[in-house]
Amino acid sequence: AQNERESLMIVLGFAARYYQETLKNHEEGRSIGLSYFRERGFTEATLEAFDLGYSLEAWSAFTDAALKKGYQLELLEKAGLTIRKDENKRYDRFRGRVIFPIHNVSGKVIAFGARILRTDPSKPGGAQPKYLNSPETEVYNKSKVLYGLYQAKQAIRQHDVCYLVEGYTDVISMHQAGVSNAVASSGTSLTEEQIRLISRYTQNITVLYDGDPAGIKASLRGIDMILEAGLNVRVVNFPNGDDPDSYLRRVGNAAFKEYLQKSTVDFITFKASLLAADTHDPFRKAEVIREMVESITRIHDPIKRSVLFRQVSNMLEVEEDALLAESNRIRLQQARKE
Ligand code: UTP
Ligand code: MN
Ligand code: MN
Ligand code: MN
Ligand code: MN
Repeated sequence: AQNERESLMIVLGFAARYYQETLKNHEEGRSIGLSYFRERGFTEATLEAFDLGYSLEAWSAFTDAALKKGYQLELLEKAGLTIRKDENKRYDRFRGRVIFPIHNVSGKVIAFGARILRTDPSKPGGAQPKYLNSPETEVYNKSKVLYGLYQAKQAIRQHDVCYLVEGYTDVISMHQAGVSNAVASSGTSLTEEQIRLISRYTQNITVLYDGDPAGIKASLRGIDMILEAGLNVRVVNFPNGDDPDSYLRRVGNAAFKEYLQKSTVDFITFKASLLAADTHDPFRKAEVIREMVESITRIHDPIKRSVLFRQVSNMLEVEEDALLAESNRIRLQQARKE
């Protein structure tokens, strides 16, 4: 199995270099892939730092090149690079897409994300997924991997905080803007393993999810998971429709960094801000307070819990005793379930 893992990493490394080479030197790669990345504002240094590439539109350009180099078809299949229909029908998984290699913490390529160039709903055969990702393999377990961690780990340690974003391009754009401590839980919702991975470098996570209902929902779920894991969590909310990448492009580097500084809030303040629209409704307010108590109850550290109950009591003008009573009720209920 160890041998197989090594063989897989070797062929994945070959594929990454092939896609990079295609982006830089192939006519189609330059005119389509490179233009795409330039339009998104990615610099040469960024393309290098993330090993970005391009896969040709032809059915089996990569597979043919790999076979010619002596890689076995079976290995290409196991690596998730080639799809085999039957004996003589095989084609490349990634075609006509820009390529985002996914690295492990030591910088070895273990998988790929591949983005379609333009979303064209008029195309026959139905809509294609915007991003196509490698399947799970012997070397790629997506719930245990964070996109960009290899490029971010040093900065995460240095700044003692990890920015958690949704997408590949959010990580890349922030890195290019000098905010290198960003990672994405790409292709999956945040997992316990991913939080544990971050905790090797810092105890502080700031969630920067997309400014849409799905992003807010994912933030709320992420907050609870991070608290449960014993880490500190903060949140930055983006205007509706923006993600870190689009917002950065719109306002520029300096304004983006300033926004991060002044818009980072603790999770209680974030939850309170979701209520802001209808604070005058006492029942809605009670519901939000209950959700805050639920989150705080997940924290194992009694001192942090105490500080947070005090904060909720002050901010939302509710008796601390009521918060503690509700917290105890939730605990008992959970204990009974177990
Ligand atoms: P988004 O839809 O927010 O895409 O998905 P994005 O990252 O902003 O991409 P751009 O800016 O349009 O290029 C967030 C992340 O979810 C995963 C990808 O990792 C993506 O970066 N995703 C999304 C998929 O795996 N497949 C999809 O079809 C869409
Ligand atoms: Mn490189
Ligand atoms: Mn989104
Ligand atoms: Mn997005
Ligand atoms: Mn985006």
